[in-house]
Amino acid sequence: MPACIIVGTLWGDEGKGKMVDFLAGDADIIARFQGGSNAGHEVMVEGKLFTFHLVPSGVMCEGKICLIGNGVVVDPRTLIGEIEALEEKGFDASARVKISEGAHVVMPYHITLDLKLEELRADTALGNLGVTGRGIGPTYVDKVDRSGIRMGDLLCRQSLEEKLQAALKMKNFLLVNLLKDKPVDIDQILDEYLKCGEKLRPNIIDTSLFVNEALDHGQKVLMEGAQGTLLDLDYGTYPFVTSSNTISGNACVGLGVGPKRIDQVYGVVKAYATRVGGGPFPTEETGDLGDRLREQGDEYGRTTGRPRRCGWLDAVALRRSVRLNGISGLMITNLDVLTGFDPVRICTVYDLDGDRVNEFPNNLTDLSKCKPVYESHPGWDQPITDARRMEDLPSQARDYLGRISELTGCPIAIVSVGQDRSQTIQLQSLWD
Ligand code: IMO
Ligand code: MG
Repeated sequence: MPACIIVGTLWGDEGKGKMVDFLAGDADIIARFQGGSNAGHEVMVEGKLFTFHLVPSGVMCEGKICLIGNGVVVDPRTLIGEIEALEEKGFDASARVKISEGAHVVMPYHITLDLKLEELRADTALGNLGVTGRGIGPTYVDKVDRSGIRMGDLLCRQSLEEKLQAALKMKNFLLVNLLKDKPVDIDQILDEYLKCGEKLRPNIIDTSLFVNEALDHGQKVLMEGAQGTLLDLDYGTYPFVTSSNTISGNACVGLGVGPKRIDQVYGVVKAYATRVGGGPFPTEETGDLGDRLREQGDEYGRTTGRPRRCGWLDAVALRRSVRLNGISGLMITNLDVLTGFDPVRICTVYDLDGDRVNEFPNNLTDLSKCKPVYESHPGWDQPITDARRMEDLPSQARDYLGRISELTGCPIAIVSVGQDRSQTIQLQSLWD
């Protein structure tokens, strides 16, 4: 009954899509448990690159069931678009993607509100969060506020109409009176979303029942996190976070399985660090070095196209992530991007007003004053994209990996040396 969770360890964009695709070959079910189309997960198969925002990254593996759990917020228009694009390319996505009837629906007014609220933040002391503008925050707000619409509601005109009427009473009050915007017209939304519901009717199921029965029958379930641990609503760099819990514990809630069913947790981390959007980033390099990492790593957001902020790997932040998620193995991606950098640096501890700080501070005032203390490691020049075993890597790269493992107290399970599925060094059997 193995269940295995994969999470991002820092601020997202760690290469979760590639890792999930790599592991999906051995899984029966691949399931998203939180987030929404703010995610941009990339999978490259035989030279072709695919980006998924909602459909789990295992969809490229033939025959695998792809679930979107209760904890995900779903823009049905984006989802239908992704399924149709896959069908056009010859993947039978429509037969394999299943969505929880309890997953909350991102409505057009959530997107309007997301953008409008971000605009209002601009001239405050905190500034912008740098949201992706996909309506994620306002959809989760409605879920907690009990005025949300769920995927199951899209299957019944009366239910959708009643719930939309109630939700719009509040939303239109806010939009018209406070935000001085146009009211939302129920009829337009109602018809469009009922059509989405009709299209997705065969795909909308009780995903918790489905996953639990699959586990009972000995099937393997791979749970795919979105965003990263430092974007977690509770444990990230609040308020510069996303609106869901991104850590492994939420896989149980988001999919409706008990914690005793989870066997393994893997954390994906790039060989350097990136962040997109606002908020603290202690190891950020704003000069030439950051630019070079961005260009060499093609570090531009896959959802919004924004340039990502880049810097060295931060072992202080990574240690926190290993602890919060209970990570049993690290998956290190983009090691190839560091080829040609000499030295390669890694932050081992912070300096806060002259004191050494081993733990990532919880409050942003302290965090913003933390200066990274670096350790330098000799770099390597030779390309490593053809390495398939640890022995194929230059000794400097192996030493660097060894140091990451030492600093985090966590073994390395996988090293990725390129975007393609084949460009992977596997060090551990992953399902045991
Ligand atoms: P994947 O799954 C990187 C960031 C946004 C912003 C903050 C809040 O591809 O790793 P939101 O739209 O979620 O309310 O924005 O979170 N963010 C991500 N950054 N990768 C992601 O997903 C992200 N999803 C959200 O940039 O700073
Ligand atoms: Mg992303």
